Amino acid sequence: MRSVDGRCGDPYGAPLMSTIPSLAALEAQVKERPLPGHVGIIMDGNGRWAEERGLSRLEGHREGSNSVREVTRAARRMGIQALTLYAFSSQNWSRPIEEVAGLMDLLQEYLDKERREILENGIRLNAVGELDRLPRMVRNPLEALRTESAGNSSMVLTLALSYGGQEEIVAAASRLLSAARTGKLPDRPLTPEAFADYLWTAPLPPVDLVIRTSGEHRVSNFLLWQSAYAEYIFTDTLWPEFRAHHFLACVAEYQHRERRFGLTSAQLPK
Ligand code: FPP
Repeated sequence: MRSVDGRCGDPYGAPLMSTIPSLAALEAQVKERPLPGHVGIIMDGNGRWAEERGLSRLEGHREGSNSVREVTRAARRMGIQALTLYAFSSQNWSRPIEEVAGLMDLLQEYLDKERREILENGIRLNAVGELDRLPRMVRNPLEALRTESAGNSSMVLTLALSYGGQEEIVAAASRLLSAARTGKLPDRPLTPEAFADYLWTAPLPPVDLVIRTSGEHRVSNFLLWQSAYAEYIFTDTLWPEFRAHHFLACVAEYQHRERRFGLTSAQLPK
């Protein structure tokens, strides 16, 4: 299936051949309109990308980590404040043991190789999920880089690791219950904003745009609470092929959406 309107999924595809904007032109265009503050990405299609080439699934994940680097660079350059990447779900633990182990190796390698660039570019590395389930070889460098980059402010890059949206909401409710039991619940009404303070993502802002690659049209337990009013863009491009220009094209597509937050079009500020 094609992407929503054929633009974001395939910015250099045939229908646009006569009007292909260069990366620089696309960047300039995107900077003219308000950017999404928080973008979440469901990075899907690594396995299929590899299988189509007769490679192992792990080689697909490896190529996918090159897309992670490129998209992160593009997001920071563009001025996006928060980028959250779905790198490993709570359900992914049930994949074949070799694939899980390979993904953990890749995460460790990523944290080691990207450390310098993350720090030099003022990026704050963050992580959400059941992090205590991660092996030490990932958890230790992850915690170290979180601490080292804590004062950075150009962009917050959050890795969703061993993450599930339902698991996060249950964990938040459970923290709230134990605060109530021990008399530590603040004396204020329980609003959605107040509940969000108990989520793993606090104090990140709500998600404005969720991108899912590879032609699947599912939410897959990703940022369920935070994306209540997010715009969704589904693109056919497989994650290992999704690079800076695809990301920019998705942001440009988002900028043409009308976000109404339950209001009518006429009620929106002109
Ligand atoms: C889904 O594709 C992808 C994953 C479960 C892992 C995502 C991991 C990476 C992009 C690389 C490592 C991450 C970082 C941050 C360095 P899939 O395997 O389900 O693909 P398929 O649907 O085609 O099988």
